[in-house]
Amino acid sequence: MDRIRIRGGRPLHGEIEISGAKNSALKLMAAGLLTDGELVLSRMPRLADTRFLGQLLAHLGVEVEEQAGSKLRLHAAQIDDPYAPYDLVRKMRASFNVLGPLIAREGRAKVSLPGGCAIGARPVNLHLEALEALGAEIVLEEGYVLAKAPAGGLRGARVVFPMVSVGATEHAMLAAVLAKGETVLENCAREPEIIDLADCLTAMGATVEGAGDAEIRIQGVDRLKGADWAVVPDRIETGTYAIAAAAAGGDVVLKDARAEHNHALWRALQRAGAEIVEDEASVTVRRTGALKPVDIQTEPFPGFATDLQAQFMALMALADGASIIRETIFENRFMHVPELGRLGADIQVRGNEAVVRGPSALKGAPVMATDLRASVSLVIAGLAAEGDTVVNRIYHLDRGFERLEDKLSACGADVVRESE
Ligand code: EPZ
Repeated sequence: MDRIRIRGGRPLHGEIEISGAKNSALKLMAAGLLTDGELVLSRMPRLADTRFLGQLLAHLGVEVEEQAGSKLRLHAAQIDDPYAPYDLVRKMRASFNVLGPLIAREGRAKVSLPGGCAIGARPVNLHLEALEALGAEIVLEEGYVLAKAPAGGLRGARVVFPMVSVGATEHAMLAAVLAKGETVLENCAREPEIIDLADCLTAMGATVEGAGDAEIRIQGVDRLKGADWAVVPDRIETGTYAIAAAAAGGDVVLKDARAEHNHALWRALQRAGAEIVEDEASVTVRRTGALKPVDIQTEPFPGFATDLQAQFMALMALADGASIIRETIFENRFMHVPELGRLGADIQVRGNEAVVRGPSALKGAPVMATDLRASVSLVIAGLAAEGDTVVNRIYHLDRGFERLEDKLSACGADVVRESE
């Protein structure tokens, strides 16, 4: 198993090109199931998670071809068998998103339930309720969802989500585009990935209005066609490198970043003492002075992203004073705390709040990655620590960060991948 060794204490100077967003790419890939035409996705991040979903799509009978220039061609000319087995779904939760497109296109599907996850229980009840509202008949049997569309196919409906869910909003969209008549989704998530999915579906011939607002209206169509679509730049990767620059010091230009997707983070970083310069297709992050403590609370977009909470906590360990970090989206997303503690951070957790007391003079140590964003928070702490930090179990990192060690090394960091 690979690990990453970071020799800390070097400021970052340079440019980092931001990849396409993992969490958008995965839903766009699922959209490929909705058409017998070709969907060609560009700015596709090459990640373990996109590879896992590619394997599942191939199993369903989709032609999946990686092309030069970060492109992925998907061609679901026909679906062999709308069955997504446990072994292919359990590796990556977002695989569950094939359920809606399979019911919409094939009228039936058998898809494994995704199971729990390190950061919380993460149920899929809202996904299933939305599909049922569209007329799907759903039975749970031996860990699988067995679903059938009514005769004549899914039909448009009004769905009011009792809480905001990114995955359930996207899943409902993926099914409703091929349903008969109008679907109105209320209390929708407003993340940029939702807009990216809506725009790609529109390019495929769907009629979707309101993405990015709480209410989305979809007029179902009989069929969708292929399209070429560029995945939106990854706001979590952008935010991660911005926090890394603030932690290590120096200045970094994040190329291809969409500044407007990270406003909550920019405000927090500015209050912490970093300078943020927003340009049309880049963001520059600079930090020369001392870091100040800032309290944050995670919220659905446009609030502070839960996927940046661990990274911001690593930064706050370096700030001069106490900060409070409240996690409101997932119930168990503080697993990085003991590992940051191994590097010398002083963090106490009470329920869904962590109190971080800085500044800690972090010192390198061997640490263990527990989930994707937790792992990268350890890399950030390692960049600012004295001596060597070795992050083990980095398959978590490979799930969501493309060429992390290359991107950081190009800015002067001493980061190497080692094989055990
Ligand atoms: C997406 O997960 C992202 N994953 C997550 O990123 C991200 O943290 C999350 O949105 C919040 O922004 C992908 O896009 C693949 P939710 P998702 O449904 O859609 C509860 C990363 O590191 N809920 O918005 O699963 C749920 O338990 C990952 O890249 C239900 O109760 O998140 C959570 O508490 C981690 N029932 C809350 O809603 C449901 O049916 C929000 O989850 C669905 C969700």
